[in-house]
Order: sequence, then C-alpha cells, then structure tokens
Amino acid sequence: MGSGQNVAVFGAYGHTGRFVVAELIERGYVPLLLGRDQDKLVALVAAHPGLAARQASVDDPASLDRALDGAAAVINCAGPFATTAGPLVEAALRAGIPYVDVAAEIEANVDTFAHFADRARAAGTVVVPAMAFYGGLGDLLVTTAMGDWTAADEVHVAYGLSSWHPTTGTLASGVVSGQRRGGRRVRFTGGRLEYHDDALPTLEWPFPAPLGPQSVIGEFTMADVVTVPSHLDVREVRTYMTAKAAADLGASDPSAPAAVDDRGRSAQTFVVDVLVRSGGAERRVAATGQDIYAVSAPLAVEAVDRILTGRTRTTGVASAGAVFDAPDFLRALSTHLSLHVPAGTRG
Ligand SMILES: NC(=O)c1ccc[n+]([C@@H]2O[C@H](COP(=O)([O-])OP(=O)(O)OC[C@H]3O[C@@H](n4cnc5c(N)ncnc54)[C@H](OP(=O)(O)O)[C@@H]3O)[C@@H](O)[C@H]2O)c1
Repeated sequence: MGSGQNVAVFGAYGHTGRFVVAELIERGYVPLLLGRDQDKLVALVAAHPGLAARQASVDDPASLDRALDGAAAVINCAGPFATTAGPLVEAALRAGIPYVDVAAEIEANVDTFAHFADRARAAGTVVVPAMAFYGGLGDLLVTTAMGDWTAADEVHVAYGLSSWHPTTGTLASGVVSGQRRGGRRVRFTGGRLEYHDDALPTLEWPFPAPLGPQSVIGEFTMADVVTVPSHLDVREVRTYMTAKAAADLGASDPSAPAAVDDRGRSAQTFVVDVLVRSGGAERRVAATGQDIYAVSAPLAVEAVDRILTGRTRTTGVASAGAVFDAPDFLRALSTHLSLHVPAGTRG
C-alpha cells in the first residue's frame, strides 16, 4: 500500500484522470488534483472531499511549480500530450520528482525521449511516457514474451477490442497526431518510423480462445512502436486492431464510453495478444481485461508505486519494459489483467 505520499494528477477531472485518482486513493496515496479549469476541479473535490485541488496551466510554469509543491510524483493524464507533456516534464525535473504519463500519441512520446533523455538521466530521475494501455501494457507483454531474448526479428501486438467508444481526449489526440503527420500514416519498419500513404491491410488474427480469429486492420500503429524499440533490439514492430473497434473509432459521430459497473468501467473487453519471432522461434503472451481507459489507472499507479519504492532498473526517460521487472509488474495487476502464457514461453 502507498505511504500516504502526495501524487499529483494533471488532468485529474478527465475520464482517465478520474480512474487514476480513484486508484491512487485505493492504493493509499493522496492525489493532488491538478488541472487548468478551476470549476471542474471544484466539482471533482465535491466527489472527493478533503483532497487538495490546484489550478495550473501548461502556459504558466510558475503555476505548475506551485501545483507540484509537495508531490512525490506526477501522473500526467491531460492529452493531447503534444501540448502538455513537455511543460509537465520540465516542471517535474524542476521539482526533482518522477513523471509518468498515459500518452498514446506516437510523436509526443518520441519527443519525450528525444528532448528529456539526457536531463532526466543527469537528474537521476525517471520519466515514463505511455504508461497506460497503449504503449505501456504492450511493452510489458513484449518484454515478458521475449524472456531471455534481447533481440527479435519481429514483434507483433494485436489488439482485440470488443468495441471502442473513444473519449474527447482520445479524439483530440488523434486529430493532433494526424496533423503532425500531415495526414499521412505511420509504421515502424527497418528499425525506424516510416510515414506513408498506403492503404491499411485487413487480415485475420488468431487471438487465443475464447475470442478466436478476428478480422483486424494491419499497421494500425499504436504507441508500442515507440516504447518497445526504445529498449529492445527489434527492427519490425507491427500493431493490429480489430476491424470492429477501428470502425467504432472512425465513425462520424463516435459515442463516449458508458459506465456499467460500480468502478465506472464500460462493458468494453480487450485481449492484447503479443507474438515475438527470432530466427525460427516464436514466443507469445496475451492479457485480457475490461475497459482500456480504466485499466490504464492501475498501470500508471503501479508504475508510480514501484518508482517511489525503488523497484526500478534504470533512470532517465524509459518505457515500462525497461524500467520495471515486466513479468512481476504484470503479476501484480492480476485483479485487473488475466495473463495467458502458452507453455514454452517464459513469464
Ligand atoms: N495510452 C493509453 O492507452 C491511454 C489511455 C487512456 C488515455 N489516454 C490518453 O490520455 C488523454 C486523456 O484521455 P481521457 O480519456 O482522460 O480524455 P478526456 O476525458 O477528454 O480528458 C482530457 C483531459 O485533458 C485535459 N486537457 C486537454 N488539453 C489540456 C491542456 N492544454 N492543458 C491542460 N489540460 C488539458 C482536459 O482538461 P479540460 O477539460 O480542461 O480541457 C481533461 O482533463 C488522451 O490523450 C488519451 O489518448 C491514453
């Protein structure tokens, strides 16, 4: 359990931020509720009497410094991260505290590695981008599947979502990422990100039972193409999305997630199926669970808990699989994620 330390949550009143706040409380931490909108902060405090709220803006570094005062760590849940990540990492470095975010934006995650690696390492602190469903979970699964391999020829991450009702933040982040790409698509091949205009292929992916084979969109590129190659020697990282979920996301008027249980989770279920290949050998591992936004909270909070209790393997900007003992991290989330490790794969 947490030690009663303060953990700042920027974007605390957003959909994901609320899950993170609830998870911190459940784990014995005291969330500091941060955001740019005072009225929304007041409304959130009404739901959590006794918690402190601090208004802060990414355009005003002094407000961020005041907001982080007394925090042991910060979790950034405010996206688009193209706008928020840089100022929040800067503020965390000034405060000398670790930074974790839930960014699914490929280019924003690349920027965090590119701009802050040296300074975070020199400061001896940890900055973990994409510590959420996309980017973080895939990287933990890939690292687990790799076992004693440090290199692989190919990494495949297939997302078996039953549906995808996106939040406003997800849609806004998608627009920003699309603009940054000039409307082009992105994939990771030959050891680097490649921008292209090719149509995306549809194929069948053999998810483990009970889901079974599903139609997926290939090269539906997610943040794993940043997190995985940041620490593993692999030149091909491909991600796939169930065609149904991709269609939900691309709908002209997509609907937001609707809560169906007392934790506020939606009915959405997921399978993340990872396949790694090296030479003639293959290793697989999969995780199943409910609600990609809700599960991002235990992922981010487990990361903060491990950082604050010294269970880390490196400093600087690093992804989940590099910072943490990946199989141990996944086992710790057994109430949120079920792992499926076929015989022969180290887990
Ligand atoms: N990697 C993953 O798997 C994963 C999982 C969950 C979420 N995410 C990402 O996390 C972000 C938030 O998602 P969400 O579901 O929580 O969306 P949301 O409910 O729409 O919340 C967005 C939050 O971001 C804040 N925000 C946006 N721009 C801001 C800015 N310039 N300055 C300060 N705050 C700003 C919003 O505050 P206002 O209301 O004041 O605008 C709100 O608190 C999205 O980028 C999403 O893609 C990623």
